[in-house]
Amino acid sequence: MRKKKNLASRMERVRSLLVENPERFAGSWDKLSSGRPIHLEIGCGKGKFITETASANPNVFFVALEKIADVLVMAMEKASREGLTNVLFIRSDAAMLEEYFSSGEITRIYLNFSDPWPSKRHQKRRLTSEGFLNIYRKILSGDGSVCLKTDNRDFFEFSVRELERCGWRVENVTFDLHGAMQQTAASQGSTDTGGDAGNSNGYQPVFNPEGEAVTEYEQRFASMGVPICRLVAFPADADIDKP
Ligand SMILES: C[S@@+](CC[C@H](N)C(=O)[O-])C[C@H]1O[C@@H](n2cnc3c(N)ncnc32)[C@H](O)[C@@H]1O
Repeated sequence: MRKKKNLASRMERVRSLLVENPERFAGSWDKLSSGRPIHLEIGCGKGKFITETASANPNVFFVALEKIADVLVMAMEKASREGLTNVLFIRSDAAMLEEYFSSGEITRIYLNFSDPWPSKRHQKRRLTSEGFLNIYRKILSGDGSVCLKTDNRDFFEFSVRELERCGWRVENVTFDLHGAMQQTAASQGSTDTGGDAGNSNGYQPVFNPEGEAVTEYEQRFASMGVPICRLVAFPADADIDKP
C-alpha cells in the first residue's frame, strides 16, 4: 500500500479510538469494556470485519490490533463514521500481546487472513506458530477460543497441525465456508444469506455461522471462487472431553 498522505492529521482526528500504551490497561480492560466479554482481532487491516462485527454485537467489546498505521487509520475512520462505542484499536505487533492483556482477559481471538509466511524459515512468524499460540493460551479465558479464517490451504493445514500438536482442541473445521453456508441456506429454503449485495460474478457473500462479518480479503478471494477455510480452536487439552 502506498504511504498515506496526511496520516498524522487523520490519526489525530480519530485518536479517541486508539489505545496508546495499552500495557497500562493490562488486568483492567474490564473498565474499558464495562464488563462485556472482549474479542480481539489480530491484523484488522482496513477494518471491515471489526466494524461490522462490533456493530452487530453491542454486548461484546472489541479490540483490533494492527501493525501498519496506513491501514489502521482506515479501520479507525470506519469505526468513527459508524459511531461505534464498543471497539478500540491498538497499533502494535501480535508478539506484544502478553504485555497488553493479563491472563484470561480475552474471550475470543480472530485471525482473519493472516499473512501465511510460506517459507519454512519464516514459520515462527506465522500467527498460528507455537510461540503465538502460547501467548493466546495465556490471555484467553477458560472458555476462550481462536477463530481462524483464511484462503491459504497450506497455512490452514499448518495451523490445524500446529494447534493439535500444541494440545488445542480444534472444532468446526471447514475447507469451504461459503459453500457450506450457501448449502445450509438452500437446505433451509432461505434466500437470505445475511451478507452484502452480490457482486458482478453473481457471488453472494455470506455471514458465517456465528454472525461474524466477511473481511475485505475474504470478500476478494471468495468473489474469485477461492474456497475459504475456517476453524475454531480451544486451548484446553485435546483429550479434555474424552472419558
Ligand atoms: C492479509 S491482511 C488481512 C486483513 C484483514 N484481516 C482481512 O481479512 O481483510 C493481514 C493484516 O494483518 C496485519 N498483521 C500481520 N502480522 C501482524 C502482526 N504480527 N501483528 C499485527 N498485525 C499484523 C497486516 O499488517 C495486515 O494488515
